[in-house]
Amino acid sequence: MTTSEPLIVLEHVNKYFGPLHVLQDVSLSVDRGEVVVVIGPSGSGKSTLCRAINRLEPINSGTITFDGRELPAEGKALARLRSEVGMVFQSFNLFAHKTILQNVMLGPVKVRKENSAAVRERAMKLLDRVGIASQAEKYPAQLSGGQQQRVAIARALAMQPKALLFDEPTSALDPEMVGEVLDVMTSLAKEGMTMVVVTHEMGFARHAADRVVFMADGQLVEQSTPADFFENPKSDRAKDFLSKILTH
Ligand SMILES: Nc1ncnc2c1ncn2[C@@H]1O[C@H](COP(=O)(O)OP(=O)(O)O)[C@@H](O)[C@H]1O
Ligand SMILES: [Mg+2]
Repeated sequence: MTTSEPLIVLEHVNKYFGPLHVLQDVSLSVDRGEVVVVIGPSGSGKSTLCRAINRLEPINSGTITFDGRELPAEGKALARLRSEVGMVFQSFNLFAHKTILQNVMLGPVKVRKENSAAVRERAMKLLDRVGIASQAEKYPAQLSGGQQQRVAIARALAMQPKALLFDEPTSALDPEMVGEVLDVMTSLAKEGMTMVVVTHEMGFARHAADRVVFMADGQLVEQSTPADFFENPKSDRAKDFLSKILTH
């Protein structure tokens, strides 16, 4: 296996919810170290795309490979895939009755059965890196939304994932907290983390993305560099979408 092989490859993926065709012949590949930002109107299938990549949603046809292997359907192989593909959601999903440090340590200790002293050290480094080390002994409710989302990123990183998926990570935050979360994501991007990011933050898309993918109605309508996409969108649907979001 060479490192030039893409990390994530979707080929002709179709997904239905009953009669609703939510992913329509979607093909996309994400290189190692690449940051792909997925944008598009609500209901276009962005979350389903993310969830399909770590098999939170099974697909109806097509193939998805991660790191050279087709996604496993179940068992240990699926558990391993999930630990290799970190996911950060709009809602932070921290365990309320566990401390910040315990939240970050949980996956490596319980799922991976790693040595807890070693995990603690790694967790504290990660909390430091997202700027929350001093809050390690607090509980999630004692932190702001922006801080909780940074903990959720540290928790995903604690599993030492090969890729991170973000599904609207800043959409539930008060506006003044969006920047601190995007800063952490930008630094991860610069350090070479492979990232798929669903976001409405066009500043992040412009400055941190290697590629922008525009989805509408379950289809991957166009993909290009951020500069190209924002200056020169090709499809009418992308033009329409951009005119709506960039005018206010
Ligand atoms: N579990 C589900 N059951 C049925 N329909 C769903 C389910 N999840 C999403 N959908 C539908 O699939 C379409 C795509 O949803 P989603 O991937 O969440 O879009 P987006 O993230 O772009 O807003 C929408 O029409 C949504 O209502
Ligand atoms: Mg969504």
